[in-house]
Amino acid sequence: MMKGYTGFEAEWHDLFWEAEDAPDEGALVADFLAAEPGPSLYVGSGSGRLLGPLVRAGHEVIGLELSPEMVVLSRARFPEAEVIEEAWQDHQREGGYESIVIPAFTFQLFPDPRRQLERLREQSKRLYLTLFFPWAELSGDLPENRWYPDREIDLPGGAKGVLETRHRLREESGSLVRKHRYTLKDAEGKVVRREETEQRLRFFTDVALRKMLAETGWQIEKEISNLGEEGDGDDPVYVATFWLIGEA
Ligand SMILES: C[S@@+](CC[C@H](N)C(=O)[O-])C[C@H]1O[C@@H](n2cnc3c(N)ncnc32)[C@H](O)[C@@H]1O
Repeated sequence: MMKGYTGFEAEWHDLFWEAEDAPDEGALVADFLAAEPGPSLYVGSGSGRLLGPLVRAGHEVIGLELSPEMVVLSRARFPEAEVIEEAWQDHQREGGYESIVIPAFTFQLFPDPRRQLERLREQSKRLYLTLFFPWAELSGDLPENRWYPDREIDLPGGAKGVLETRHRLREESGSLVRKHRYTLKDAEGKVVRREETEQRLRFFTDVALRKMLAETGWQIEKEISNLGEEGDGDDPVYVATFWLIGEA
């Protein structure tokens, strides 16, 4: 069964993103949407973190989000941004969309990536996709099967939100099972509440990904490494963004 973000994972989602100091993907999505006008669909639009500013900037894009909690956050923060509460796997629109965007690795949460690429092709002829590759997990930089500190955020009144992560790799099947442990601590450091979630993320080698895209009718129009961050040329590609065009 598909499960969206709930509890602390939903409530603290944006704060953890902000704490990460990662480049903002919104500008990359905006470039893609500006190349062809909508209507466009943003799959996994979450709290509206990227969707809201895109709508405010005049892009004709609507959100699709599985988690009711994320939809509530999005509608409260960006009432002008339309969001459909539904799983991508159940969603269909007569006539499809001009383009579909799936930033922030949401595609990797789908259990059946090949089938979803086919469905995406049926619903649109342009696709924006961002995928991450778990180099740190594969190289052993992050320990397997053991909790490690991930990120921490400051909450009102001196409280803290602490995120720890633990993962298992299934290299043969290209999946990474990641558990997150969210802990709310009061100003004295006492644990108030703890929640655990689990996600299975698919990852693809470069060769396997290109093959799957070609076989499902997608051509690569443009590729952006590491969200456009300047590197020295030898940096591994942790995050790959694709502009895809459906073959006629
Ligand atoms: C990694 S978060 C990204 C959120 C948002 N794109 C952002 O960058 O802030 C993934 C989001 O996709 C949603 N999601 C997961 N599976 C989904 C599905 N099958 N259909 C629609 N949304 C889904 C989750 O509930 C979550 O809000």
